[in-house]
Amino acid sequence: MANVEYSKGLEGVIAAESSICKVDGENGKLYYEGYSIEDLVAQCSFEEVTYLLLYGELPNEREYTWFQKHMRASRDISEPIRHMIREFPDDAHPMELLQSVVAYLSGYVEHKIQHSAHCNCRDPLHQVVQLATVVATYERFKTGRSYIEPSKTLSHGANFLYMLTGEEPDELEGSIMDDCLILHAEHGFNASTFTARVVASTISTCYSAISAAIGALFGSLHGGANEKVMQMVDEIGDPAKAPAWVNRALDEKRKVMGMGHRVYKAPDPRATVMESYLHKLSEKNGDFRYYEILKAVERTFRERMEEKGKPIYPNVDFFSGAVYRLLGIPIRLYTPIFAMARASGWLAHVLEQRADNRIYRPKALYVGERDKSILPMNERP
Ligand SMILES: CC(C)(COP(=O)(O)OP(=O)(O)OC[C@H]1O[C@@H](n2cnc3c(N)ncnc32)[C@H](O)[C@@H]1OP(=O)(O)O)[C@@H](O)C(=O)NCCC(=O)NCCS
Repeated sequence: MANVEYSKGLEGVIAAESSICKVDGENGKLYYEGYSIEDLVAQCSFEEVTYLLLYGELPNEREYTWFQKHMRASRDISEPIRHMIREFPDDAHPMELLQSVVAYLSGYVEHKIQHSAHCNCRDPLHQVVQLATVVATYERFKTGRSYIEPSKTLSHGANFLYMLTGEEPDELEGSIMDDCLILHAEHGFNASTFTARVVASTISTCYSAISAAIGALFGSLHGGANEKVMQMVDEIGDPAKAPAWVNRALDEKRKVMGMGHRVYKAPDPRATVMESYLHKLSEKNGDFRYYEILKAVERTFRERMEEKGKPIYPNVDFFSGAVYRLLGIPIRLYTPIFAMARASGWLAHVLEQRADNRIYRPKALYVGERDKSILPMNERP
């Protein structure tokens, strides 16, 4: 057995080999299967990127036609799932709903597949495709509106906006939404992806793995920073007030959400792309308020950090909330959107784990006692 040192939170521990994603934090680069994130958003759709993550290569025309048709045919959700969404407790979080829906899907899809052949999660693709329908339908039901049948002609991102609002988005909005999903589709061995791989390593179903990953993403240390960024933007309200707000936050030793990253020590490439989308949408709407508030926050924050010799840049969450706001998406859907994008990456990791599996079994450093004697109950303190 390998002789390894204790590392709290497994920080720095290499637990598997993977060729899916490289986060090059020193140089601010991100690659999916060797392709840079900038090239992927510029040239590919989310459906193409999903194919890339699952099969390790970009599809040719024939493969893409088949895959796209297959993904689009899986968009509709059945009445039992609609019923589940309708009846879900009103004050529950949509992430809890997503987690339950995926586990429920396992009950009536995965078993059939396991019985017919070895488990092949690529086939139904429900986790990736239907999560978008579930999120949009959740919002519609919550706001007293009816179910919208998914489109078979729109991209995955544009169809999500269509199902949410009932109106087809214009080309710019549809393509920005699709690109936002690409930007969030994968990011290496983070907590939720690791969770998916641990579950997959027991040869549990893909649905159990994705459902568990959604549970991990729900935690406030993982998903959710963009919600807090938008709360900050709303609180600041005016670009001129941003410097004072940031200075006060830093003086009070509070974190400025959306700034900094554990891995990126150079600009997060996803943030650079996101910023350009925010600029485009602000231009289209003729309203640069969110953009200007965020840029003013960034300027003051970076000046303060540079005084201390710490170059810290915006991460992807810094601009994504404002992009979603301008696309008409409410804050409560931000983390579910992260999940519906990341499902592609989780599934890719589940497949990679299965292809060369070893069940995860780390150890804990035991710091408890031994050989204690059991006192009769009436003598216990
Ligand atoms: C992501 C994060 C946890 C990384 O923290 P980290 O690994 O400690 O980052 P660094 O080592 O680069 O931090 C260096 C210093 O800058 C400070 N710093 C980093 N990000 C900061 C932020 N957003 N606000 C205030 N101070 C920050 C750290 O506290 C640390 O200060 P110290 O040297 O006095 O202890 C941190 O940047 C953060 O909390 N950001 C805000 C939350 C967020 O946006 N999360 C989403 C990430 S995708």
